[in-house]
Amino acid sequence: MSKTATLEIDGKKHEFPLIVGTENEVAIDIKTLRAVTGGVTTIDPGYKNTGACESAITFLNGEEGILRYRGYSIEELAEKADFLEVAYLLIFGELPTQEQLDKFNADIKEQSVVDDDIKKIIDAFPKSAHPMGVLSSLTSALTAFNPSSVNVDSEEEMYKTVCKIMGKFPVLVAWTMRKKNGLPLNYGDSSLGYVENILKMMFSKPNEDYKQNEILVNALDKLLILHADHEQNCSTSTVRIVGSAHTGLFASISSGISALWGPLHGGANQAVLEMLEAIKEDGGDTKKFMAKAKDKEDPFRLMGFGHRVYKNFDPRAKIIKVAADEVLADLGVEDPVLDIAKGLASEALSDEYFVKRKLYPNVDFYSGIIYRSMGIPVEMFTVMFALGRLPGWIAQWKEMRARKEPIGRPRQIYIGENLRDFKTIEKR
Ligand code: SDX
Repeated sequence: MSKTATLEIDGKKHEFPLIVGTENEVAIDIKTLRAVTGGVTTIDPGYKNTGACESAITFLNGEEGILRYRGYSIEELAEKADFLEVAYLLIFGELPTQEQLDKFNADIKEQSVVDDDIKKIIDAFPKSAHPMGVLSSLTSALTAFNPSSVNVDSEEEMYKTVCKIMGKFPVLVAWTMRKKNGLPLNYGDSSLGYVENILKMMFSKPNEDYKQNEILVNALDKLLILHADHEQNCSTSTVRIVGSAHTGLFASISSGISALWGPLHGGANQAVLEMLEAIKEDGGDTKKFMAKAKDKEDPFRLMGFGHRVYKNFDPRAKIIKVAADEVLADLGVEDPVLDIAKGLASEALSDEYFVKRKLYPNVDFYSGIIYRSMGIPVEMFTVMFALGRLPGWIAQWKEMRARKEPIGRPRQIYIGENLRDFKTIEKR
């Protein structure tokens, strides 16, 4: 592999260094492009061919369907680790010792009280408010109650801020759902594990003792691991670019929640269930919906299918599909929508349109089926995605600040009017 790339413009050659990553990915370093070419830039809508940063957190290989957090395969982590271990790994770079994990858990619990005035903000929302809008607002509001911006050069301050958001975020998630369900806003039980307590905060009722269900705990723990990070996706890139202005961590994460809400991104898990329900209501004719998805005149897309990076099976979708079967069987739940999903997937995987475009089920295709079997309302599905993605957003924000990345400010090519004189109103 040569060490440089050569660009020729108007007969003049310019050399740019090649950067090679630890997994042999290659990038052209164009940091000096404008300077050496007198102002020439690049353009790449959606950044399909453009790297925003160098990162040591997550490695994806879309062609081979590989996903690793800090070098560990998603398959091993989903099977052998729990969510808090994976959060620690993503944020601090190594799997924790038992002592480090116990301390992390204890420090998070200590930080998990939310200022009671947050309830006044929740009360101001109509019950019809989408939980993602509520969660984004509440997360940003955390800044009002924790105004001091973290000194990112202080390991101790950074650790404390990480524990604050890891402790308070699940409370905001649970309160967002409880408010919608008309339930009192409470805390769980700090003697429980991180994920167990999330379920208790979400589902406990004031008039009965809450019974833990290990099947649900294990299913949620696995789903949160599978959603924990995914390198420079839309919402993570949002968290990084907002944070690059030295905006605080909580407000940066709030912006990431808004980006994740979109149906082309994390909002797809809600859109998949709504699509599967629509197919069921329509009599289960998957071929009709496949035809709509392929019709360029029809804005309908097969939600939960396709991916910017994976041009093979999303490894997370493979794991979630198996988990969906297990959870529904363990819970003794028959869900016809799962059968419709499987029928749709097998049709698409042998359909020329999807095969040619390498469109495979992604992380959002089966996850909603598990969330629904757990009794989570469909409007809360993307909130659950955010709950999983939290450690990834934290890790990426922390890495960007630690590497002292410059403020994100892309260039453009102007295609508007050239200079023209002002016209007084009577002449317009
Ligand atoms: C997530 O980036 C990440 O890592 C994201 C994520 C994460 O963990 O953070 O993995 C989570 O966001 C998963 C994706 C969830 N979104 C959906 O399921 C929505 C449905 N999928 C699509 O909208 C689409 O596939 C995207 C947005 C996911 C990817 O879009 P791209 O990369 O911009 O691809 P494209 O739109 O250029 O599509 C290429 C072709 C087009 O057809 P042609 O113009 O070549 O004829 O494939 C077609 C598209 O029309 N296509 C689809 C399709 N997805 C792409 N056609 C029908 N149904 C689909 N779902």
